Amino acid sequence: MKKLSDPLNLRHGRPLPNRLVLAPMTNQQSEPDGTLSDNELAWLLARAEGGFGLLQTAAAYVNPAGQVWHGQLGISSDAHLPGLERLAAAVTAVGARSSVQLHHGGVRAEKALSSQDVVGPWDDAQTGVRGMTTGEVQRAIEDFAEAAARAEKAGIDGIEVHGGHGYLVGQFLDASNNLRTDGYGSNPTGRARFVKEVVHAIRERTGPDFHVGLRLSVERYGLVLEDMVQLVGELFASGDIDILDLSLWDVEKLPANAPEGSQTLLEHFLNLPRHRTVLGVAGHIASAEAVQRVLDQGADLAYIGKAAIADHAFAHQAIADPGYHAPAFPVTREHLRVEKLGEPFVSYFETNWPHLVEG
Ligand SMILES: Cc1cc2nc3c(=O)[nH]c(=O)nc-3n(C[C@H](O)[C@H](O)[C@H](O)COP(=O)(O)O)c2cc1C
Repeated sequence: MKKLSDPLNLRHGRPLPNRLVLAPMTNQQSEPDGTLSDNELAWLLARAEGGFGLLQTAAAYVNPAGQVWHGQLGISSDAHLPGLERLAAAVTAVGARSSVQLHHGGVRAEKALSSQDVVGPWDDAQTGVRGMTTGEVQRAIEDFAEAAARAEKAGIDGIEVHGGHGYLVGQFLDASNNLRTDGYGSNPTGRARFVKEVVHAIRERTGPDFHVGLRLSVERYGLVLEDMVQLVGELFASGDIDILDLSLWDVEKLPANAPEGSQTLLEHFLNLPRHRTVLGVAGHIASAEAVQRVLDQGADLAYIGKAAIADHAFAHQAIADPGYHAPAFPVTREHLRVEKLGEPFVSYFETNWPHLVEG
């Protein structure tokens, strides 16, 4: 039986000290130029000190044209290096591992934040975003690879490509909207090409001590579940990724419209041969028992989001006490401040999850 405290070897990169990962969480605490702020470092470091084996940063833009949020972390230029170096050193000093989430908003990028042309896989009538040329698609793959190389240079242990939640990488997988006819759309093979080329380019550009992760959604956002199962099987076999992180929002969720008693979303992926890629899952994991349940089902890692907002020491507590449950929401603003969320993060959380903040 796998235990929460079991270390985990990765095909590339340093082993993870345990099975608990801080899920990537946008917190709008970066400096206006995308460099890491003291607030953001304090938020992440508290979770490293709280026992998480792997600290995933918030989504960080690989190109300013892909920026979605004010105060978003950046990894698009060498000006971002000193902050990332600080993060890597601080996390390493407490024995944890770090990973930067690489992100590009595509059609959902915020025009007001960018001096460049905002582009995506298709001409988007709603936002006025222009469809990328094939050259721009290849340039975007390069942006991800350069960002990963920058993370490695800063001493970060790995990256996670943000292929979930309908941003650029996920937009290429969107069967309803990605009708590109240049080999990067129109059918399952074409739609999968961008993400495969991104992780392959990153693998080629980084060394054996650096891990490559990928986050995927598996339904909504125009995704076809059967195509996602096929894609994940191919990614496992490719050897290009070391960690797959399935963002399910609820690890027990059934596919949309599936009758009661059907396989859960997660179960669709558990029996695929992994070829030494490890599998992580995120969504409503808020207790030691819930972590143990996904490990018992066959996952290798549990990604903890909101429960790690409520308790920076979730990992230590869950490892020490099988009966541990994170503090229940709603919590007060004061609770969030004590848990090392700076004011911009408190406001972002309250705006987007108003029912989780009291008063
Ligand atoms: C405040 C907040 C910010 C988030 N930002 C990101 C993000 O930058 N990238 C991402 O992939 N997911 C993001 N998510 C999703 C989480 O990583 C996680 O998958 C989700 O919250 C479900 O896990 P949970 O139920 O443990 O919170 C965010 C979630 C929250 C609550």
